Amino acid sequence: MDTTTLSDAALPAGFDISLKTRDGNPGLRGNYASMAADYTVPQAMSDYTSEQQARWLRLVERQLALIPSRACKEFLDAVNGLTALDMRRGIPNFADVNVALKAATNWTLVAVPGLLPDDVFFTHLANRRFPVTVWLREEREFDYIVEPDIFHDFFGHVPMLFTPIYADHLQAYGEGALKAKRLGGLDWLARLYWYTIEFGLIREKGATKAYGAGVLSSPKELIYALDSPIPKRVPFDVMTSMRTAFLIDDVQTTYFVLESFQQLRDDTAPDFTPHYEQLKREGA
Ligand SMILES: [Fe+2]
Repeated sequence: MDTTTLSDAALPAGFDISLKTRDGNPGLRGNYASMAADYTVPQAMSDYTSEQQARWLRLVERQLALIPSRACKEFLDAVNGLTALDMRRGIPNFADVNVALKAATNWTLVAVPGLLPDDVFFTHLANRRFPVTVWLREEREFDYIVEPDIFHDFFGHVPMLFTPIYADHLQAYGEGALKAKRLGGLDWLARLYWYTIEFGLIREKGATKAYGAGVLSSPKELIYALDSPIPKRVPFDVMTSMRTAFLIDDVQTTYFVLESFQQLRDDTAPDFTPHYEQLKREGA
């Protein structure tokens, strides 16, 4: 995976890119020196500068202007209805958000220096902990960033964690990913993550809306995914998504559309072992 061409901070945390991080790849940031064994770090609120706070606000305002007609109801309800998700108040303090999130779905946010090794990331998900990068993109990266920052991780991912069925799915995904790693199926399960958690669309009262974090946190991709006639929008199917290679350096050519979050839960509930064996036979 070429880390220099990743667009819009949509890469699922984890996967092989993280190994480069640990090796000190200069293209990746984050202070990994002071982290705990589970890769968590303190979120030092006083370290955020006034310039960063102002940049955060501009990122938030730009995206809030785009989501009313494009984000799914669950995302909008959380962003519009929860004081803890009032992102206009500044860069969020994870400890404050955790009070509301814990009460809603028993998830907690953990601060991390950046991308994590696969097993660390999936272990957090399996334990209902969502890793959020602590640092914010630089001004020159306002429209384009190489790796996930706090804006992608928080704006894109955190509101959906307040929806119980989605939150339960994400925990199950973490458990499934740890199993997939043992079975050699992680590349295929990564595609499922990509086309759901990062770039997923969903039908809602006859319209198509976004719930994927990579779409919701990127102005370019949000407009493209929902408004452009160019990309394919196909009904969500587990095996089709696992057979579909994804782009990390451009907007997607294909988006998978759920009928409901119940469909996501139901379709990903079975044991995937036969899926991996089939995909292995196909050389997918
Ligand atoms: Fe993400």
